[in-house]
Amino acid sequence: MSRHLLYIDGAWRESARTHTIKSPFSGRIVAVAEEADEALMERALSAAKAAQTRFRKTSRYLRSRLLAAMARRIDEDRAKFVTSIVDEAGKPAALADAEVSRAITTFIVGAEEAKRYGGEVFPVDIDAAGRAYEPGTSLFVPRGPVLAITPFNFPLNLVAHKVVPALAIGAPVLIKPAPQTPGAVRLLAEVFEAAANEVSESRETIPLAALQTITAPNEVTGRAIRDPRVAVVSFTGSASVGWSIQGMARGKRTVLELGGNAAVLVHGGADLVRAAARVAYGAFAYAGQVCISVQNVWVEESVEEAFRGFLLEEVGRIKTGDPRGEGVLVGPVIDGKAADRITAWIDEAQKAGANVLCGGKREGNLLQPTVLDRPGEALAVVREEVFGPVLNLLTYRDVGEAIEAVNRSKYGLQAGVFTDSLRVARRTVEDLEVGGVMINEVPTYRADHMPYGGVKESGLGREGVRYAMEEYSERKTVISYRG
Ligand code: SIN
Repeated sequence: MSRHLLYIDGAWRESARTHTIKSPFSGRIVAVAEEADEALMERALSAAKAAQTRFRKTSRYLRSRLLAAMARRIDEDRAKFVTSIVDEAGKPAALADAEVSRAITTFIVGAEEAKRYGGEVFPVDIDAAGRAYEPGTSLFVPRGPVLAITPFNFPLNLVAHKVVPALAIGAPVLIKPAPQTPGAVRLLAEVFEAAANEVSESRETIPLAALQTITAPNEVTGRAIRDPRVAVVSFTGSASVGWSIQGMARGKRTVLELGGNAAVLVHGGADLVRAAARVAYGAFAYAGQVCISVQNVWVEESVEEAFRGFLLEEVGRIKTGDPRGEGVLVGPVIDGKAADRITAWIDEAQKAGANVLCGGKREGNLLQPTVLDRPGEALAVVREEVFGPVLNLLTYRDVGEAIEAVNRSKYGLQAGVFTDSLRVARRTVEDLEVGGVMINEVPTYRADHMPYGGVKESGLGREGVRYAMEEYSERKTVISYRG
């Protein structure tokens, strides 16, 4: 069984308090995690503050080498990361492996961005007086230590999306992982320590407090959120927690990647076979526990019957079960509480008259992929974020009507549209109130270097390495008089 010590101020530390981590599939205890108390949190915060200036002044060359060395070492430790993600998050092995590959890409993008990120030049001679000045510069300087609060569903890559931009610009980062999945963060700290020692030279070194791990209970984390030494709070998780964190982090930059109830439009004329295959994957991979999982599929009435047939065929082929099993796409949801909530929402929809076209059954934390036929828009299963293997099949007559329905949601992360019409594609891009529109693709698509984030209750700010580097930076303007 693994023991996840905390990596604070360059040393591995135990605490008086621990919690056990259970496999969401079998309930077996897979690890014990140390939990930071007030004293350890204080040590981490003061070490981050003390490292701030030295880390900011390291060269881009050194930081880029650090990130590249971390990418290589994650690949060397791939099997350990995959096992940890499967055991703690219950993510099917192939998806856990894909997550590790994505994290390596995120680190490589960071190694590249670190070299070219520095500032902008702007002209000053735009009026008569301005002729006396050199072109101005706007330098991007790190705001200061970043507190990264990360979710259970991508225990490595959503951590990478906060750690990489911080390390790339020279900002110390404190990682507070989800209590269910601190294993990948512990492995990442091991990778960091080895890579920092590998790339440090007599001329300049990476301070080991540039990355720290602080698994902690809510009250201790709350203290860090409020602490003036933390300059940026970056959170990925539920909307309710995210917006309450923003309230606590007064005066700091907050980046919030929150929930959604992602919609897809399937318009007449689209390739229905491909649309059905992508929707089935986007709705059910990792039991729908992705912020951009497809939840509501809006199908033009004229093609609904044909689409439904292809969709149910695809869903029927999905393998459900032990996340370690070959070919499994749908494993357990994270815990019994999540399974209870999702089941209650399905029951509520059924009671309100929605037909269950497939699924609807539960065994422990394993829920069968469930497709509901036309549940009412006011139901929780449509309106709220399900974060489970449930897909709602809804219909529309006119594309404007579908766009309005999608925009009635309080969320706006990403949406998709399947169509062969340029006019329909353009209209969705223009009118959908979301952070990203995927054309002939599901909203579940994400490339790790693209701007990623939502509008409305889905969040604030953007991730995608370069975009998070900007969020974590302040602009310092420099003007030189030339006479
Ligand atoms: C998320 O769940 O917000 C992240 C999705 C992804 O990175 O694919």
